[in-house]
Amino acid sequence: MSARRAGATAGQLALELPLDLPQIALVPEWKDQQRLWGHPFHPMCSYLASFPAALTHAFIARYSRPGDVVLDPFSGRGTTALQACAEGRIGVGNDLNPFAHLLTAAKVEPPTQAQATTRLAQLRLAWNSASSSWLTLGARVFEDPTAGDALVPTAGSGAGAGDGVETVPLEVALAFHPRTLGQLLFVRTALRLDDRTDRFLAAAVTGILHGKSASYLSELMPNTFSMAPRYVRDFAARTEFSSPDRDVFDGLAKKLDRLFRQPPPRTEGVALLGDARDVADRARDALRVSGRPDRARLVVTSPPYLRVVKYGYYNWLRTWFLGFDARAIDAALDDAHHRKPYLAFLRDVLASLRPALTDDAVVVLVIGDVLTDRGRDIHNGVGLAERTWEMAAEPEGYKLAGVALDDVAAGRKMTKLWGDEAGRATKTDRILVLGATESGRRRALSGADLDVDWSWPPRSLRAI
Ligand SMILES: C[S@@+](CC[C@H](N)C(=O)[O-])C[C@H]1O[C@@H](n2cnc3c(N)ncnc32)[C@H](O)[C@@H]1O
Repeated sequence: MSARRAGATAGQLALELPLDLPQIALVPEWKDQQRLWGHPFHPMCSYLASFPAALTHAFIARYSRPGDVVLDPFSGRGTTALQACAEGRIGVGNDLNPFAHLLTAAKVEPPTQAQATTRLAQLRLAWNSASSSWLTLGARVFEDPTAGDALVPTAGSGAGAGDGVETVPLEVALAFHPRTLGQLLFVRTALRLDDRTDRFLAAAVTGILHGKSASYLSELMPNTFSMAPRYVRDFAARTEFSSPDRDVFDGLAKKLDRLFRQPPPRTEGVALLGDARDVADRARDALRVSGRPDRARLVVTSPPYLRVVKYGYYNWLRTWFLGFDARAIDAALDDAHHRKPYLAFLRDVLASLRPALTDDAVVVLVIGDVLTDRGRDIHNGVGLAERTWEMAAEPEGYKLAGVALDDVAAGRKMTKLWGDEAGRATKTDRILVLGATESGRRRALSGADLDVDWSWPPRSLRAI
């Protein structure tokens, strides 16, 4: 326990007075990089509260070497894991949200460009011979998704248009032109998410499902997240919305061109689906099976916020396409999001992480700009980062190297996430930099002022 904390009274703790943690002299150069800095797989699909690839590079470049394992137990859309692979490290990403897992897996276990384009060509051919039945189905669903003859096959079942078993939600049906809907139903049924190439194509489709430009399949909603279904129904009725006719195969072909502007990383990573509280065994098993080092030298992660982002609800159109249940996702992710249990949750995560870390591991916790805990203001996450150290990391034996400050420009806070900043890189308040042991802490401190190469791809890796 820190002297400062020992001296604090219960009253002070209740008032959330800052504990004045030491700062680590890390210059936030990631903020000076272009928004789309890094590998073109990063922006495959928007994901709320994801952080910029450049931020992960600042730590990967300093605190790991090619061949090291870099772990993110809350991988989201896979930013840390992909960036690690792109720099010749073994990126391991874990998430409890199947949509996040799909995005992470698509990025760190991708197909080749030839495999992806060949599969797309196969789908086009299959579409050409079966299109009339799917177009009829698309038209029926568009007309009245509740009608008895508007049932559709389940996602990934490989069934025919006539083998319908489930209804399409009204707000899905009204999002697309009937022809686009017919194509989407076909592709949704054909793609099998346990296949590497199909999974990549499915992830790429989620990235173009909705948005406000001609590259998206529906213009009903912005790209960053799905608006509330009721709002969408009202909006569509009020504005007599009708989506332009967009060709799924052409849209996907263009998306693949963008994704493969650079070759996929040569180093393959690992994507895991599960709770961060038991990630260590699963990560080590997966690494051992593939004959790789089974402990991480670096963790760069951003834990879920305090009940601010509903990953299922805000992605309902994408989860429908993938055949996932948005409600079930939110129920599974809805861990202890009240402050006290939240800190206990983070402590469990840090405890269970330890066996998967090397002794000199550096652990970077990006504590997001949370504004409220059940309606109460909590100082833009300042208090939360300090409490995380005090209540979760220190009791588990981690050593504090310091807090990297990343000042948030006024007005660019969580509330803004739903406006024009939505889906962009998270605006970070506090970054806790820890060592798994004293040697990890020393490594964190001595690496802080190393120069980082911000050219992309990095000069040192162009040969890898
Ligand atoms: C702030 S986001 C991480 C975003 C990520 N850094 C990125 O760049 O995309 C937090 C993630 O934690 C996941 N999550 C929530 N509870 C979890 C749990 N118990 N175990 C694992 N992941 C969980 C959410 O699904 C979400 O993807």
